[in-house]
Amino acid sequence: MKVVVIQGPNLNMLGVRDQNIYGPMKLDDIHAQMQAFAEQNNVEIEFFQSNLEGEIVDRLQECLGDATGIVINPAAYTHTSIAIRDAISAIQIPTVEVHLSNIHQREEFRHTSLTAPVCAGQIVGFGPFGYHLAMLSVIQIMNEVKALQEQQQGQEAQVALQNN
Ligand code: DQA
Repeated sequence: MKVVVIQGPNLNMLGVRDQNIYGPMKLDDIHAQMQAFAEQNNVEIEFFQSNLEGEIVDRLQECLGDATGIVINPAAYTHTSIAIRDAISAIQIPTVEVHLSNIHQREEFRHTSLTAPVCAGQIVGFGPFGYHLAMLSVIQIMNEVKALQEQQQGQEAQVALQNN
């Protein structure tokens, strides 16, 4: 099982930007915690951050046939990007959206997420702990998908046996 973590624009500035909203933790520190949690759960993990919409679309497409789960904070693109929404929808890999701040408590333009409707779920407002919750959620979904696939394979093998 492999999780790809995708971070949108300005999240590379965590620890510097708007500390009253996003807190003092740097992105690398959040990633170190996620890495440790992934290792405890025998899950492979990869991190990607970009300030460019097209690069995020490319990275999502590269997840096809590679990642079994995605954690994404599309940052400001959450509220604007049909391209990122379409990419998430196209690849059909369980994706959890996370936001450090509670976007529903903030300016009205942040209340709408174009990406959340094509994600398995959205976690907002818990700061860096939200990434931990997102990891828990995506690992749970990946385990459920794996169990379902194994069940289907078992049934197919049984049908094949009966037909021989
Ligand atoms: C954010 C919320 C967005 O509205 C904002 O543009 C960000 C960060 C969050 O994690 O709270 O850059 O995604």
